[in-house]
Amino acid sequence: MDLAGKFVLVTGASSGIGRALALELAGRGSRLVLTALEEAQLAGVAAEIEARHGGHVEVRAADLSDVAGRDDLLAWLRSRADPLDVVVSNAGGGRFSRFTAAPWEDLRRTIALNVDAPTHLLRALLPLLLARPEGRVAIISSGIARLPYPGLAAYGAAKGYLASLGESLACELLGTRVRVMVFFPGFTRTGFMDAAGMDVSRVPAHMLGSPERVARQIADGIASGRRWRFSDLSARLGAVAAPLLPSALRVRILRNLFWRLPDED
Ligand SMILES: NC(=O)c1ccc[n+]([C@@H]2O[C@H](COP(=O)([O-])OP(=O)(O)OC[C@H]3O[C@@H](n4cnc5c(N)ncnc54)[C@H](OP(=O)(O)O)[C@@H]3O)[C@@H](O)[C@H]2O)c1
Repeated sequence: MDLAGKFVLVTGASSGIGRALALELAGRGSRLVLTALEEAQLAGVAAEIEARHGGHVEVRAADLSDVAGRDDLLAWLRSRADPLDVVVSNAGGGRFSRFTAAPWEDLRRTIALNVDAPTHLLRALLPLLLARPEGRVAIISSGIARLPYPGLAAYGAAKGYLASLGESLACELLGTRVRVMVFFPGFTRTGFMDAAGMDVSRVPAHMLGSPERVARQIADGIASGRRWRFSDLSARLGAVAAPLLPSALRVRILRNLFWRLPDED
């Protein structure tokens, strides 16, 4: 797919990977519809893109962890004259905590943002993409999708769900002109860890990728119709090789590999 002139929805576009992807896509000539939680930050990204690349960037703030927020976003998307060609489900996050210490409200919001929102949006938007000459979906999972994630158990499980959802949709859409890609980022230098409340000082610097590089890879993957893509070797090993190890070994290795649980500091 030539991304120039295509209408692309990016969720979680106000910071990190989503912001970098919006800038990358604008540089490739895509027209953008951006959404995130905080309106002011989103408007700032849109202004930055317009100043750098010209054109008009559409923005709509929505709380994707809330069904009413998603319904409002979907109604607005349907009311727009220009149909979408590409949907990037990128918004995500969670709160770092031992599972048994996490308030249910935190876990509920994590599941709502990382599971309910992509499922709801894709169920609503895929029929629109199928009506287009060509369509693309990119689902941002994680290199930990198939690994234990102590301290972010519900978030990690959600990323596994997204990998499975994306591959199942790719199966169902075989023979159509819509392609679904699951993208697996490794550790990426964004506000994600701070927002989660994690100390990742033990993660080796060489394992932290830049959001700009990840954004280029996502855009390349969308353009070339990839179904499965990793940002780096660690993400590939985590998703493909580590699941081949016995579970008992995986659990021991991952227990304290890069961080300790918050009550163990
Ligand atoms: N960074 C990493 O190491 C890493 C690794 C693997 C996978 N990922 C995945 O990559 C994706 C992007 O993460 P990032 O690292 O770029 O993190 P980030 O900088 O924290 O960005 C998260 C984005 O999600 C949006 N968001 C959060 N809660 C929302 C809500 N309730 N409703 C709507 N939007 C909401 C945020 O908007 P506001 O700013 O307005 O809240 C922000 O735009 C996520 O799916 C994450 O799981 C990241």
